[in-house]
Amino acid sequence: MPSNRDYYYEDGIFFSKGSSSKDMLEDNEAVPLPKYPIGVSFRKADQIHFRELRTEHGRVILTQIKQKCLVDYLSSFYSVLPEEKDDEYSMSHSDLLKYSQRRLRDKTFTEGTNLVTKFGLPRRNLGYGGFATTYKFITIDKTYHVVKYITLDPRRFTTFEKIHEEYLITRDLDPKLFGVGLDIFASLKDPYHIMFVQKFIEGKDLISSIESNPRFQNPEFSFQVFKTIANSVHILHEQYNICHSDLKPENIMFDSDTDKIKIIDFGMSFRMDLPITSYTNVVNLNCGTPGYYQRIRSNDLEYELDYNYIGRAKDMFSLGHTFFNMLSYNNLWDNCSMKDVAYAKYYKTGRLLEYENLKRRYYETGQKEKLQQVVKVEIWLRYMMQLNVSARLTFYQMITDEWFRRIPTLHKKLPGGLY
Ligand SMILES: Nc1ncnc2c1ncn2[C@@H]1O[C@H](COP(=O)(O)OP(=O)(O)O)[C@@H](O)[C@H]1O
Ligand SMILES: [Mg+2]
Repeated sequence: MPSNRDYYYEDGIFFSKGSSSKDMLEDNEAVPLPKYPIGVSFRKADQIHFRELRTEHGRVILTQIKQKCLVDYLSSFYSVLPEEKDDEYSMSHSDLLKYSQRRLRDKTFTEGTNLVTKFGLPRRNLGYGGFATTYKFITIDKTYHVVKYITLDPRRFTTFEKIHEEYLITRDLDPKLFGVGLDIFASLKDPYHIMFVQKFIEGKDLISSIESNPRFQNPEFSFQVFKTIANSVHILHEQYNICHSDLKPENIMFDSDTDKIKIIDFGMSFRMDLPITSYTNVVNLNCGTPGYYQRIRSNDLEYELDYNYIGRAKDMFSLGHTFFNMLSYNNLWDNCSMKDVAYAKYYKTGRLLEYENLKRRYYETGQKEKLQQVVKVEIWLRYMMQLNVSARLTFYQMITDEWFRRIPTLHKKLPGGLY
């Protein structure tokens, strides 16, 4: 990771140190503090222009950035975590939260932990969410990171504590299977925004992969992708005790060059080993994307079902819908309204109407083999999406099933030799 001494900016110019340029500041010169007021929008990150000047030896010495105020604004962000990883890992989760909260409150940041120094600048926009915009950041030596720019809004449960929880959930996940959190930044000047930095993952999200990659035309391939995702979710439950809680194609990355699949966006995830009354757990258990999650009915909690069971069942339901998305471009609830989170028609008829439409489509276009394939897995969809939580397919039933076991996984070797 480049250090504070590797590069810095001044007057809108981004300098790389260690070159022979006369314009360089002294090595011990600090990164200048921001001179501009808060609230600079950087939605148009694509418009930042990098101009590289090269020495005779071809070395990049200088990059010019047009939006000086943007750089100033971004440079007001510093890490709230301890500088030394050893210090961080010697603290319990709650002590680390207290430590970060204190830094946030007192703004006792360290010079070497500046956002721009560590992770560079936004290169392009990756997505807009309700409370967050996600950017791809680039450092001067061209390493990429993903930075989620989050607007704090306690009325909508977007609190510093919740982001800290997302960091704690993701920092130790296996980077081969999941999006990993790296750091949290707060600003000296702007109390309303937080930056959450993650490892960059190659590829596209599954929703655009399904649309653009012809391999998804073949249900056999969709089965393989489904199994690979399902295995990762199972590992998330068993090895990390975490319910993802917002599984959907947008939150799954697929790299078509390497066939690697990684699950991202743990913004709604929760620990299944915490008490059911824990604040974030209650909130996250009842959140999700309409269509992909089934509202937890209070009697499921009152009766015999424990939290671990419900967390797993919630992910299974979302996995079912994700599986359907891979088999068909349609939304499973097109016959209901998207607002109809209780899936009224499904309740009434007990039939997955869109699944029947999918079969009819294959029948009418004479695609016999595809028809056979999707008929074969219809029973799976039914069990995965049972509205009655206690009758839903469990992960244990899934991974021990003969058909499931025979599907090749795209990840040849999984950690722990599980499969
Ligand atoms: N680690 C990552 N690597 C590459 N792209 C990512 C990464 N994390 C997120 N993205 C992209 O950014 C989009 C939004 O990120 P996400 O974490 O899902 O935020 P939100 O909470 O706004 O949904 C994703 O759908 C994906 O396309
Ligand atoms: Mg998302």
